[in-house]
Amino acid sequence: MTLGTRVTVVVTLLVAAVLAGSGYAALKVRRANLEADLDREAHEIATALRAGIEPLDPSKAEEMLLARARAARKHDELFGLEVLSIGSEQRTDDDAWLLLMRAADIQDAPVGRLFDSSSGPRSYAMAVPLFDVTALELPPRHPARHPTAIMGMRRDAGYIDAEVAATARRIYPLFLLVVIGVAIGVRFAIEQIVVRPLRRLLEGIDAVGKGDLSRVILAERDDEIGTIAGRFNAMTGSLREAREETERVAGARLGLEARLRQSEKLATIGQMAAEIAHELGTPLNVIGGRARAMAKRAEKAARRAAEEPPPDRGTGAAADVVKNATIIGDEVSRITKIIRQVLDFSRPRGPTVTRVHLGAVVAEALEFLRETIHRQGIEVEVQTMPAPPEVPGDPDQIQQVCLNLIMNAIHAMPEGGTLRVATEPVLRRKGGLDLAPPAEYAALIVADSGPGIPAADREKIFEPFFTTKDEGQGTGLGLAVSHGIVKDHDGWIEVDSPATGGAEFRVYLPIDTGTLAGFPHPPATDGAGQSPASSTRSTSTVDASFPGSDLAEMRSIGKD
Ligand SMILES: Nc1ncnc2c1ncn2[C@@H]1O[C@H](COP(=O)(O)OP(=O)(O)O)[C@@H](O)[C@H]1O
Ligand SMILES: [Mg+2]
Repeated sequence: MTLGTRVTVVVTLLVAAVLAGSGYAALKVRRANLEADLDREAHEIATALRAGIEPLDPSKAEEMLLARARAARKHDELFGLEVLSIGSEQRTDDDAWLLLMRAADIQDAPVGRLFDSSSGPRSYAMAVPLFDVTALELPPRHPARHPTAIMGMRRDAGYIDAEVAATARRIYPLFLLVVIGVAIGVRFAIEQIVVRPLRRLLEGIDAVGKGDLSRVILAERDDEIGTIAGRFNAMTGSLREAREETERVAGARLGLEARLRQSEKLATIGQMAAEIAHELGTPLNVIGGRARAMAKRAEKAARRAAEEPPPDRGTGAAADVVKNATIIGDEVSRITKIIRQVLDFSRPRGPTVTRVHLGAVVAEALEFLRETIHRQGIEVEVQTMPAPPEVPGDPDQIQQVCLNLIMNAIHAMPEGGTLRVATEPVLRRKGGLDLAPPAEYAALIVADSGPGIPAADREKIFEPFFTTKDEGQGTGLGLAVSHGIVKDHDGWIEVDSPATGGAEFRVYLPIDTGTLAGFPHPPATDGAGQSPASSTRSTSTVDASFPGSDLAEMRSIGKD
């Protein structure tokens, strides 16, 4: 059974019960009223009867009373009359009459009541005591006062039942109409107020079940259904948010996976580059050696040939050979150096702590990026202190930080600009250690004249995979990795990017920390005479195959 039907049935039954009850009560009152009317009428008629007959003459009583009874019958009066007793002579043996007669004698007044009869309709009967002159002179209820005769008045009371039945017939159809009306009204109201909103609620829930979270229902109502609808809307709202969040997270994860794949690819390419570089080492070695040998031999031959005339290397075939062989040798050195850097850069190494010469790190990084810097028309200002600071740390890692910062600066100035790289010792307190005494730090500063970093991004640039660069351009890992490295070295990075443009990254590394947590300390291999940069490569086994690739040579190439 639907809710609408159930409520309708219950309300209709209630209304019908109330109406039936009140109808029954109304009929009862009606019957009581009719009976009271009948009783009153009987008393009035009895009074009139007595007035017409009393004082009764005992000698003529019988004749007179019988005549009166006959007259009543003849005129078809409302009440039929009969003589119940005259003097001591009793003329009836009907129990009902005897009862009434006794009561009338005792009460000294007419007494009437309704009688049910097993056969036929009910009837009203009244015993009317009649007195003679002597009795009338006595005060009422005097012990010596007895009726001379008693007349019986009787009337058929079936009309009362008929009247009540007629009333019932009149009101019950009316009640039935009311009940039907109520049923229809309730049904309609329930439909409007409850069933239809519930149906819409159900439709909404079904829609949510099918994945449609855009439904907003019944927001305007202020009752319980409105509350449910409100909660429903809130629920779909939060589901919607949760779904958007899930989608966002899934999207982010997809992006992350793509970038991870990209970095894996880069790592593989790095490995391949390292292998190729390693393979190229030997032939380059041979070419370089042969070129130098050729140059030497040609020079010697030229000198011998020119013993008589003044030596002139600028002319003749020998001079050409020397010149070309020298060019070949130089270019081979250059290629060797580039390959070496690629190798150094791509080779993963465990961290080692030595003293790192920041000035050398800067020079090496700038050299590595020289081509790009030149191509983009970037002006470079290098301000390394006369005695550039040395810091304890892993040279490769610090080199990576330096390269990352300079690469970002270069990326920020595609149309050219000024790149400033500086190193300097500073006396600083580490952030969060306000009470500690200031300590000596080496600052590595990389500043550019690019557009700068928007304030909104400044919080995020150190997050892994945060990048504003185009697909394939940035991995979003540079600053994250740099931050990790600097933290491992007990240092920190500061960023300044004024609204006027440009960005300045400052890396602070402690100059002397004693031990650096988290770093394995290798046996002290950084001999005093060794240059810091070359000491970083003391672990390399590939280096041996590269001729003339020490830092001094790289610097000399970097200067031209
Ligand atoms: N010098 C700079 N000028 C402007 N923005 C910078 C600079 N350095 C870093 N950023 C911003 O920080 C982001 C993250 O840098 P990074 O972690 O190196 O990743 P990537 O260079 O691969 O984007 C860059 O995408 C860029 O938006
Ligand atoms: Mg970067």
